Amino acid sequence: MLIDDERAAAAPATAPPAAAAASVLGAAAAPAQRVQAVLDVDLPGPRINRHLYGHFAEHLGHCVYGGFWVGEDSEVPNEAGIRLDVVEALRALDIPNLRWPGGCFADTYHWRDGVGPREQRPTMVNSHWGDVVEDNSFGTHEFMALCELLGAAPYVSANVGSGTVREAAEWIEYLTRADDSPMARLRRANGRDEPWSVPFWGLGNEPWGCGGGMGAAAYAELARQFGTYSLDHGDNHLYRIAAGAADADYRWTEVLMQNLGRYLGAGPVSGHGTNTYQAISFHHYTITGPTWDEKGSATGFDTDEYYRTMLKARGVERIIAGHANVMDAYDPDKRVGLVLDEWGTWFDVEPGTNPGFLFQQNTVRDALVAAVHFDAFHRHADRLVMANIAQTVNVLQAVLLTDGDTLVLTPTYHVFAMNKGHQDATSLPLTVRGAAPSRRAGEEELTTFSASASTKDGQVLVSLSNLDAEAPLEVALHVRGGTVTAPHARVLTADHVSAHNTATSTPVAVRDLDEVHLRDGVLTATLPAHSFATVTFATVTFATGD
Ligand code: AHR
Repeated sequence: MLIDDERAAAAPATAPPAAAAASVLGAAAAPAQRVQAVLDVDLPGPRINRHLYGHFAEHLGHCVYGGFWVGEDSEVPNEAGIRLDVVEALRALDIPNLRWPGGCFADTYHWRDGVGPREQRPTMVNSHWGDVVEDNSFGTHEFMALCELLGAAPYVSANVGSGTVREAAEWIEYLTRADDSPMARLRRANGRDEPWSVPFWGLGNEPWGCGGGMGAAAYAELARQFGTYSLDHGDNHLYRIAAGAADADYRWTEVLMQNLGRYLGAGPVSGHGTNTYQAISFHHYTITGPTWDEKGSATGFDTDEYYRTMLKARGVERIIAGHANVMDAYDPDKRVGLVLDEWGTWFDVEPGTNPGFLFQQNTVRDALVAAVHFDAFHRHADRLVMANIAQTVNVLQAVLLTDGDTLVLTPTYHVFAMNKGHQDATSLPLTVRGAAPSRRAGEEELTTFSASASTKDGQVLVSLSNLDAEAPLEVALHVRGGTVTAPHARVLTADHVSAHNTATSTPVAVRDLDEVHLRDGVLTATLPAHSFATVTFATVTFATGD
């Protein structure tokens, strides 16, 4: 178990820092902005894969230890060591998948150290994250039990950087093989008879950096080698995800696509050496500080910094499109998936906390970063098949914060909750008509309205963000191709963009948005400054010729 740290000194509850207060407060005084948009409910786009709402848990700080895992002897209510408040909160999001054990940690992890009786498991040094001693008390069986409790699909990242092909091959045999094979026998000896289902299999992590310092071509060869020996056992079909680019390194994606060659989009074929990889990932964090050592405070920022953060967050769409364009050139039928398996804000750690634990608070700003990411994901759902927020609990843009037996739902959590109806829904085109409102962000112009929509089971879900820090936004949504009935809107906001939730104060909460009206197929809503809203309504599309 990791040693408890100084996290108690985390940021104060809600008061904005003095510098921010002057510019961010006073929102009510600014005159409302206006935007017009068109939603075509009879023009279905691609399905929004539920795995775009995926999660990520690394052995880093208090994500696993203290976040998911408290151990069987803990006073925190748990099932076999897994904390139940966290499970309940994530089940409420319909969490589709969980990526583990890293991140950079994955390429230092040797899975055999984390199976068998806990008291006999060897320890190791978590060299990337705080240089702390990892006791391996949370290992394969604990992770799979967690996924079962969550109802989430496991996404296991194999160690390519410092592990062997044999080690990876044996891990997947251990996890998924039913018969009397050596690894299946070992699993049974460790208390699990039935194999598990493991759909998602990562081939390393950030191989250009912490995952081995490789060039793209060297990694592509290695990914094919690891992929080849990561077999499908029985009914388990692996979706192998090759580790991809940092941000806009499209060349990396191109090299991986070229190396798929004759394997392009080939389905996994067990035991015949034709397995390789079916998807390519990339990572993109929202980092705005001038240098790596000055990423800025998660809670203490002024309006300029806020707008620059939003500009950076909106930039994810250009990067998704860039990777997708490269992939289209090699794979026009879109058989290879694009996976953004790490995204989110990355600020300076909270003062007084371990710099290696990446603990940061989470404000309305983070919620809006999440909202614009999801809009971009929905628009690129034809190629982007999975995304994983970094990270689920207590690390970076966490959806949950724990401290002892307390649990805090962050503003980002609420965006996942309000948006969950988009999972496995059909995307719908939503386009701005005329000029969209904007604000200056550094040298550039930031469009302050973001939106997306989908339909499922006769219901339409529209997500709307007003990124303006000061002014409300009147949205007029012209719904075409169907009737609208019974609109219901909810909004997430607080008095200022730096507001955040703690164990004793929850100023960032969801409430009904009353300022919504329907007239002649036009929905109008007034979004408060710096807010995220969802509108749901029933729809009947017009038959052709109506
Ligand atoms: O999420 C934290 C770290 O960020 C991950 O371990 C690594 O993959 C990335 O650089």
